[in-house]
Amino acid sequence: MIKMKNLTLGYKKEKILDKLNLKIEKGEFIGIIGPSGAGKSTLLMSIVGGIKVFNGHFEVLNHNMENIKKKDLVNLREQIGIIFQGYNLVDRLSVLDNIVSGMLKDIPMARAVIKYYKEKELKKVQKLLEIVDIQKHSSKRCDELSGGQRQRVAIARALASEPKIILADEPISALDQKSAKKVMEILEKINKELKVTIIANLHHLDVAEKYCTRILGINGGEVVFDGKPSQLNEKIIEKIYKGESEDMDSTD
Ligand SMILES: Nc1ncnc2c1ncn2[C@@H]1O[C@H](COP(=O)(O)OP(=O)(O)OP(=O)(O)O)[C@@H](O)[C@H]1O
Ligand SMILES: [Mg+2]
Repeated sequence: MIKMKNLTLGYKKEKILDKLNLKIEKGEFIGIIGPSGAGKSTLLMSIVGGIKVFNGHFEVLNHNMENIKKKDLVNLREQIGIIFQGYNLVDRLSVLDNIVSGMLKDIPMARAVIKYYKEKELKKVQKLLEIVDIQKHSSKRCDELSGGQRQRVAIARALASEPKIILADEPISALDQKSAKKVMEILEKINKELKVTIIANLHHLDVAEKYCTRILGINGGEVVFDGKPSQLNEKIIEKIYKGESEDMDSTD
């Protein structure tokens, strides 16, 4: 699904990630871990074409990312769902309308504006509500929900376009433990049952170990660990998080 060969990525003139050699296959649940500023979000966003490619080969869902055309980028982005720490929902809209906004590929804008949905579309929303277990709140406005509930709506919206890949940038960082567990269990279910490949930046090592099938440890823009959670040990963890405390002490 995703191939990176000797890849260098970054912003304008600044190279952030270097020597990336990765192959990500369908069905994997990948946890990206590492200190703040390591390049985790940069790596994640490169998968939807948001980051400059300096060198190397980069392929996502059979698209060559080095010189991808606008039209192909639109097609690629339709196949990838994204969820963020801050949910990115429209607060004044209902749960149902937020989920429908993820289906605009199928529902013409004119119908979405007047909230005229067909039976088949409502059935699909119903199924999505069930997957994230939020049925009883479907008519509530999103600003009436808890953080955990909002993130579940965001997951349903991401799923609405039937993506092959879901990218999650710190999906549980703003949540309490109980809500975080529920969100991770839903992502795990989506990965196992719907076979959606999931790539998540996670700040909690224990969470990554528990739910992910593979872990990428990033430090200073390089992948310093790529393996199964069971392969992690003290020495490797130290290598992955090297510099984290120095970063936290700095004032910038
Ligand atoms: N839009 C941008 N333009 C230029 N540089 C950027 C941009 N976004 C991030 N960077 C730089 O890229 C580097 C990696 O940032 P990134 O956000 O990928 O780190 P991260 O591992 O996700 O950190 P965190 O855990 O704090 O979210 C940092 O040095 C950062 O300053
Ligand atoms: Mg980040």
